Amino acid sequence: MKLQKKLIFCLVFILGLYSCTTSRPPSPTTQAVPWIFSAEPSLRGKVERSGQKYGIATQGSGATQAARKMFELGGNAADAATAATFAISVERPQSTGLGGGGFLLYYHPSLKNGPVAFDFREMAPARSHEKMFLDAKGEVVPDKSLVGIHAVGVPGLVSGIVKFHRRFGNLPLAVVIAPAIAMAEEGIMVYPELAEAIEEEAEHLLMFPASKEIFLPGGIGLKVGQLLKQRDLAMTLRAISAKGEAGFYSGSVGHKIAAYSKKLGWPITLDDLRRYLVKERTPVSTRFGDYTLYSMAPPSSGGTHIAQIIGMSHGLLRPEKGPMWEQNIHVVASAMQTAFFDRARYLGDPDFVKVPVATLIGPKYLQDLQGRIKLDKARKGDDFAGWPDAFHFEGPKESDQTTHFSILTKDGEAVVSTQTINGHFGSAIVVPGTGVVLNNEMDDFATKVGASNLFGAIGGENNLPEAKKRPLSSMSPTLVFKNSLPVLALGTPSGTRILTCVAQTVINRLIYGLDLYDSVALLRYHQQWMPDKLFVEERGFPKNQHEALTALGHVIETKDIGCRIQAVELNEKKINAVSDPRGEGSSYAL
Ligand code: GLY
Repeated sequence: MKLQKKLIFCLVFILGLYSCTTSRPPSPTTQAVPWIFSAEPSLRGKVERSGQKYGIATQGSGATQAARKMFELGGNAADAATAATFAISVERPQSTGLGGGGFLLYYHPSLKNGPVAFDFREMAPARSHEKMFLDAKGEVVPDKSLVGIHAVGVPGLVSGIVKFHRRFGNLPLAVVIAPAIAMAEEGIMVYPELAEAIEEEAEHLLMFPASKEIFLPGGIGLKVGQLLKQRDLAMTLRAISAKGEAGFYSGSVGHKIAAYSKKLGWPITLDDLRRYLVKERTPVSTRFGDYTLYSMAPPSSGGTHIAQIIGMSHGLLRPEKGPMWEQNIHVVASAMQTAFFDRARYLGDPDFVKVPVATLIGPKYLQDLQGRIKLDKARKGDDFAGWPDAFHFEGPKESDQTTHFSILTKDGEAVVSTQTINGHFGSAIVVPGTGVVLNNEMDDFATKVGASNLFGAIGGENNLPEAKKRPLSSMSPTLVFKNSLPVLALGTPSGTRILTCVAQTVINRLIYGLDLYDSVALLRYHQQWMPDKLFVEERGFPKNQHEALTALGHVIETKDIGCRIQAVELNEKKINAVSDPRGEGSSYAL
């Protein structure tokens, strides 16, 4: 780059940071916000709540009620989060559950070093190796990482949540699990997203007798309005309620998992289960004007790339033009594209590979990356140096699996957690006699260098499967602080789109100053380097804008981006909670 050009970019970057650090927090803009997903007052009224004491947003109604009940019983946000975790496991068996894993960020003002991050991501069973998804010719065996026992990582959710609750909760474990047990025993009404997921995955669920019995009794998938009872799952929850982690990882449940996986030809041994290790990580943090953003560290790519996207975009954006001005979209999309290139190159399990997070989100590197964004032209995926140019890329398949909830109190206690079994109904295996749906998180490894996963994300060497390794994730439970207090708590499901949806929502709220509902509801777009496309929600960009972005070189494709942001904020003294109007979640605030 010529010296003069470089100086201009430096100046833009420094001015951007300066304006960030000196600007007052934006108050909600009065400018009309176009292209909101849906701002109908009736819909808004259903998903937005305001209060003074605490706020909850989850992807279920039972989960929100379970969390609320814990506060009513005198519990804290950690109790509410634990209750929500077990309840959502019953309520969204297609997305999450005891057979899965996740990440959680927790903050309480007594924590002097900021939020703590719990990593209960699945671990590869001890017999895993880097060629486990390849045939004798070195080709990826279709679906082996997605359906059936090879797809399953050692579940971490129970260990993670029970340890978290033991450390920070106030109420007894039995009290916080009780709502989930009741939901599993008494049954929940099947709702549209659940019925659709059953129908979509019927072929795979029918391969496993216990899955068939629960979700397709008599071979017919449960339909909207029918009752889903999960009696075996209730028994497993009772075992956890009585014995903590031991109720899942050993005893009868652990033995059933080990025996059934052996029967299916790829044992997840009792040793794998008992040695599952929850890790406490330091969240990735980045300064951002008056704010400090904390999000998940590797093995999630989320925090690193949210910090990169905001860091690169800031200073190039023109907030007065609004979030849907094509040049602003181009800047954010280009930052997303660059971040995903780094994701494929550098990210993996930090216990196995060196992930240079501090460098990747450092001002020097971000300044360099920002300077490479061409304001007048979108870059092609192949413009990025360092990768062979002959990969086979598949577009991301439709999927909005995974779940997220956010809880925030006026006293500064906050929990955000994203939890998953990966694809809808994970591996499609329910372990007989347990009600536990096993994940297919092994697909989040690179089955082969350069191959794409369920979400179309390209895998690099750092993310090849290895015994006890954790697959790379995009899950991004995120907290934003101001004056040492959490003021925004958010996250979402939807694979690789998670981190771009979280970044956009933060930018909408804190750079453009939209109110929380509009920040969540605004039309979304997503760029992940490969496939070389700018995805936009089905509603799409209006014609003029579509043309302007195409002229800049973007290849636009409309599709369901799948995110369901669950967000709670503390704004002045008011708590606002918003559950994404695209989904079937709910919020509550008091
Ligand atoms: N399974 C989706 C993710 O972890 O990003």
